[in-house]
Amino acid sequence: MELKEPFLWGSATAAYQCEGGYREDDKGESIWDVFCHSEKNNINAVTGDVASDHYHRYEEDIRMLKEGGQNAYRFSLAWTRIIPKGTGKISQAGIAFYKRVLAACKKYGVTPLVTIYHYDLPQPLMEIGGWENREVAEAFADYAQVCFEAFGDEVRHWVTINEPDYDTMCAYAVGNYPPNVTDMNRRAKALYHMLLASAKAVSRFRKLQAKGMIGLVHAPYPIATLQDDLAYREAAKNADLFYNRCIADPTITGWFCDDLFVKLKESNIDLSFIKEGDKQCFMEGTVDFLGLNVYERAVVKPYTSGETCLKINNTGKSKDKTSIIVKGWFELDKDSEVKRNPWGMEVYPKCIYDLLYMMKERYGDIPFIITENGIGYYDKLENGQVHDPYRIEYLDGFIDWMWKAKEEGIDVRGYFVWSTMDLYSWINGYEKRYGLVYVDYEDHEKRYPKDSYYWYQKKIDEKEGKE
Ligand code: NOJ
Repeated sequence: MELKEPFLWGSATAAYQCEGGYREDDKGESIWDVFCHSEKNNINAVTGDVASDHYHRYEEDIRMLKEGGQNAYRFSLAWTRIIPKGTGKISQAGIAFYKRVLAACKKYGVTPLVTIYHYDLPQPLMEIGGWENREVAEAFADYAQVCFEAFGDEVRHWVTINEPDYDTMCAYAVGNYPPNVTDMNRRAKALYHMLLASAKAVSRFRKLQAKGMIGLVHAPYPIATLQDDLAYREAAKNADLFYNRCIADPTITGWFCDDLFVKLKESNIDLSFIKEGDKQCFMEGTVDFLGLNVYERAVVKPYTSGETCLKINNTGKSKDKTSIIVKGWFELDKDSEVKRNPWGMEVYPKCIYDLLYMMKERYGDIPFIITENGIGYYDKLENGQVHDPYRIEYLDGFIDWMWKAKEEGIDVRGYFVWSTMDLYSWINGYEKRYGLVYVDYEDHEKRYPKDSYYWYQKKIDEKEGKE
């Protein structure tokens, strides 16, 4: 009889956002190192040079995670530590660092879930065109193979790429992530190559007969509208293609749906980046599980006018919902009455349940792991304590709805809070905190578990029937 694996209860980080040590050992420069040091970084002009200093404090972070009742840690590998220039020479120091992290996981009985790529492309690869250059997909597969070979003995849960959708949306359509482009054609090309890269990496994984499961992390949205008529339904369908199907279809089924091609052609997207043989490559690179980063719904309305844009709302001063318009497809609707965090993110926990049902109905019995769920806030440290009832309320709702879906038969294998400790938020910097543990950025030695950290431990016990 096959032994049932324990449910993964954990929290997550990403290399650039927490490691720091940006010049330590052999590390090469990533696009985020370069961007954060450039004048384009002008909203919250801080960097990840030190971040949460996880490079030096990983052992303490993993120990605290375990002491908080968690049994799993999701983290990402920095490509620039392992292959500093993106291709070519491998850094033994980089490999040794992640072996130490994995050894700490083992020491504390924590299951690692390893993301191979989380936004931080090596700068030399950006200089040859970044994800718009098809060769980068092959370079990624080579890098992934190095990771499988180096860490395969210790890792059973792999993720190829984190959020190709959101990353390319910000980097190539909205323009607030490097390389700060605003062009839907270039976005489509970069996204396609990222998905191709993931499929190629999965094929390498299969060829090597590596152990465990491999997946991709997607940030889909359950789509909602505030009115129900033909135009609103059309907007919802377009948003579903845009946010959900264009990632999940090729990743799970091996190719894109016809409706997506129709819509892309209507928008004059040049699809000449699709080459003969790619479909085969996607078919061979389908995943074992899908990671889902779930934060909120997308409430949409019909497109009226304007180019794809985002009203950047990173200061947290405005209560406005960030607005996205996708020309000819849909617009985000800001009028819902649901509670929001200071950055405009909706607090609507049932969306995780709706999303899981939508995915199951569409893709059948593929396993899901909730790879991120969390809420950013201006947390305050008072007498060594952080009272964050808003985070507890948010997570509590999401966990209950996720668990309900699991109990009703959806194959959910794990749940990770974003984030393990406070860390750098892309563009938003350090004031927006997501962690279960508060980090004193003036003195990194000081880390304080928040109320939510203790609450999470109890919640896990409650769900596991250990109360
Ligand atoms: C998704 C991303 O994977 C992560 O890097 C980010 O910080 C969180 N969402 C919060 O926005």
